Amino acid sequence: MSGAQQKVISLYPAIIGTPKPFLKWVGGKRQVMPHLIAALPGNFNRYFEPFLGGGALFFELQPVRAFLSDTNDELIGTYAAIRDNVGGVIRHLKRHRYTEDYYYQMRDRNPARLSPEGRAARMIYLNRTGFNGLYRVNSKGQFNVPFGRHSNPCICNDDNLRLVAASLAGVALRIASFEHVLEFARKGDLIYMDPPYIPLSQTSNFVAYQKHGFGMDNQEALAEVFEKLDRRGCYVMLSNSDVPWMKRRYAGFRIRRIRAARCVNSKASARGPVGEVIVTNF
Ligand SMILES: C[S@@+](CC[C@H](N)C(=O)[O-])C[C@H]1O[C@@H](n2cnc3c(N)ncnc32)[C@H](O)[C@@H]1O
Repeated sequence: MSGAQQKVISLYPAIIGTPKPFLKWVGGKRQVMPHLIAALPGNFNRYFEPFLGGGALFFELQPVRAFLSDTNDELIGTYAAIRDNVGGVIRHLKRHRYTEDYYYQMRDRNPARLSPEGRAARMIYLNRTGFNGLYRVNSKGQFNVPFGRHSNPCICNDDNLRLVAASLAGVALRIASFEHVLEFARKGDLIYMDPPYIPLSQTSNFVAYQKHGFGMDNQEALAEVFEKLDRRGCYVMLSNSDVPWMKRRYAGFRIRRIRAARCVNSKASARGPVGEVIVTNF
């Protein structure tokens, strides 16, 4: 399917049935989706998303030949379990209850001792019922987000999970750092990179997605990967915050500036629209 066809399908989700991201994820792209769609190339071969998170753009496009990856093993395991046995994941999810005691019991379970479907259902349950849909782990890698106060959270959306599973059929999933795209991407492929953002200020530096944050050394390594993919003839698209470093480092590429409502900051007063950029080499 060409990029243009994918673009058209995404404009008619009610007809085809476009899945929604099944996890709430910091940095989820639903708000800025129209800008991302507008920035896409007209045509491309395979699709790569090496900072998968909630996968908003992947679900919007539903490319047939896709390579999705992230360093978060629980996250990738959850996608894989849905792809391979969505019925099993749904059965496990339906057993979960929304009470504080139950939440902490579930949080304390060692995911490594659960089946792939049970593990995926635990991840989805904690994400839907924990505080703000955050994913945060302590130094031992244990999930440590507190119980969230929601009114009637939707823990299991069967229809959406089945659409998610259908769009993941045949898709390659990997636990890997972003550099691994260099091993696979070829001329004509599209790579969309949505890394943890460069902090805008001291109070908004939410980069603790994983045990290790994503610092400026990682941002520099990412810019080098962007340049290598560009020289290879790939289409490369990258989101980040609108900070002077981005303008300097990606000078020579096309930079679109957009406003996005973000909820990364824990202080409600500091939330609100922030500047983002979309960088493309096309
Ligand atoms: C901004 S989020 C992506 C949001 C996603 N586009 C969405 O729509 O929800 C960044 C993701 O990068 C992942 N990540 C952090 N460091 C990474 C690395 N070195 N390589 C690949 N993924 C990484 C995090 O686990 C997180 O899922």
